[in-house]
Amino acid sequence: QQNIRTISHRGVRVITPGTGELACGYEAEGRMAEQQQIMEFVQTMFRADFSRLRVLVSVGGTEEDLDPVRVITNRSSGRMGFALAEAARDRGALVTVVAGRTSVLPPTGIKVVSVRTTAEMSRALKEEFVDSDVLVMAAAVSDYVAAVRETHKKKDDTWTVELTKGEDILQALGRMKGKRYMIGFALETEDVEANAKKKLEKKNCDLMVVNNLGEEGAAFEHDTNIVTIYSPSGKILTTKLQTKREIADIIFDVASRQETFQNIDA
Ligand code: CTP
Repeated sequence: QQNIRTISHRGVRVITPGTGELACGYEAEGRMAEQQQIMEFVQTMFRADFSRLRVLVSVGGTEEDLDPVRVITNRSSGRMGFALAEAARDRGALVTVVAGRTSVLPPTGIKVVSVRTTAEMSRALKEEFVDSDVLVMAAAVSDYVAAVRETHKKKDDTWTVELTKGEDILQALGRMKGKRYMIGFALETEDVEANAKKKLEKKNCDLMVVNNLGEEGAAFEHDTNIVTIYSPSGKILTTKLQTKREIADIIFDVASRQETFQNIDA
């Protein structure tokens, strides 16, 4: 199991065994996969619409240290990012995920780079971005960092923490964009369309996916979500309340119809 985890996290695609009667007499998972299943798996990989593409996905929340034991973070679970990684994998892409803190396990068959802080995420993404065709920035990056990181564990009765804005990773990657295709995520509570457009421009993205926070079953810690997708020319669509995997496929369907996606220099 450990070996399978290791190779699948390096990006190797694994055809899982079938379930049924085993040589030892048990009924369990452990049979060689049926030939037909193996053929279908291989055919899907070659038929898939993303088969030439290297897709980089950032996932989960980052942590910022306040002192040696306390951090500030956010409620991102990583579910949306992993759903996107899985959807890209199933379209035949070579997928790399840069994962901050998540509360769910990554899908198999993708390369995973684990990070903790915003600075670590930034470093890992900049390194992986060079060899990527598509970036999906689904991570919830902590946009504030402590102005002072205490070197000893704080024990005072009260503690006032000053926070300053940290690096905007997506904006930095946007400056190195070239012919890559970039998808950003956003949480907006007011002037949604105007803010989405501003973010698209500022971060040099091709699509901005806005989480409709506040609607039942949407965004943090849910398996479902409702999003609105914007391109620089305006609103494209709003989804229904759907599973994050279904939403991931809608996002990639929308992306693959855009001219800038067809111009990726893969
Ligand atoms: N993002 C990033 N680095 C940050 C903050 C955000 O890369 N320091 C990315 C997010 O991963 C997301 C997009 O930028 O894909 C938009 O994030 P959001 O938090 O909505 O936007 P902000 O730029 O932080 O703007 P604001 O908080 O003012 O709405």
